[in-house]
Amino acid sequence: MKPNRRLRLRRATIEDLDILVKQRRNMFEDLRHRTSLEHKVGDRSYRRFVKEMMPKGRFVGFLAETKDGEVVAGACVWIRDIQPHPGKISPRKGPYLMSVYTAPKFRRLGLATRLVKETMKWAKKNGFMQMTLHASRMGRRLYQDLGWERTWEMRFNLKGRR
Ligand SMILES: CC(C)(COP(=O)(O)OP(=O)(O)OC[C@H]1O[C@@H](n2cnc3c(N)ncnc32)[C@H](O)[C@@H]1OP(=O)(O)O)[C@@H](O)C(=O)NCCC(=O)NCCS
Repeated sequence: MKPNRRLRLRRATIEDLDILVKQRRNMFEDLRHRTSLEHKVGDRSYRRFVKEMMPKGRFVGFLAETKDGEVVAGACVWIRDIQPHPGKISPRKGPYLMSVYTAPKFRRLGLATRLVKETMKWAKKNGFMQMTLHASRMGRRLYQDLGWERTWEMRFNLKGRR
């Protein structure tokens, strides 16, 4: 059996809140340097966010764990509000993939691929037609290989502008 198959996937519950916050922080630590104060603020607001969204069914997490119960990877979906679009049914909510993270010792085993596929399966089963995400440099290839496409989202930094 491939090493990643020995790790089982499961749905996260509110009992996993500490793990979800830790994974999110680890993800940001890997992306670029931030101060410990910035992380502290981020951890606190993410904790509040998950606590608010999960019971409403607007935040779903999937975790990969070893047979000893050590959680080593995760991927989450936030059901966010979206603006109306033309079409037969204009969905007002859409799944946003976030907090995709694999612990360094468990990377390149296909775990994030399995987890992201699980979120996609979940979204499809729940009637959604499309998912979105913001890809880190490390994550880009993984999403592309799963068939995700680049879009034309843009942004403008208002800080320090008149
Ligand atoms: C990105 C990340 C989630 C990948 O997790 P993983 O479990 O190692 O991913 P997989 O094993 O499923 O990788 C699948 C493919 O993605 C690509 N990939 C994964 N990590 C990569 C990296 N560091 N650089 C370039 N491509 C990478 C490869 O094509 C890989 O296939 P291969 O191993 O056969 O070459 C993990 O490196 C991580 O947690 N990084 C820090 C946080 C982060 O960037 N998260 C994504 C936020 S959008």
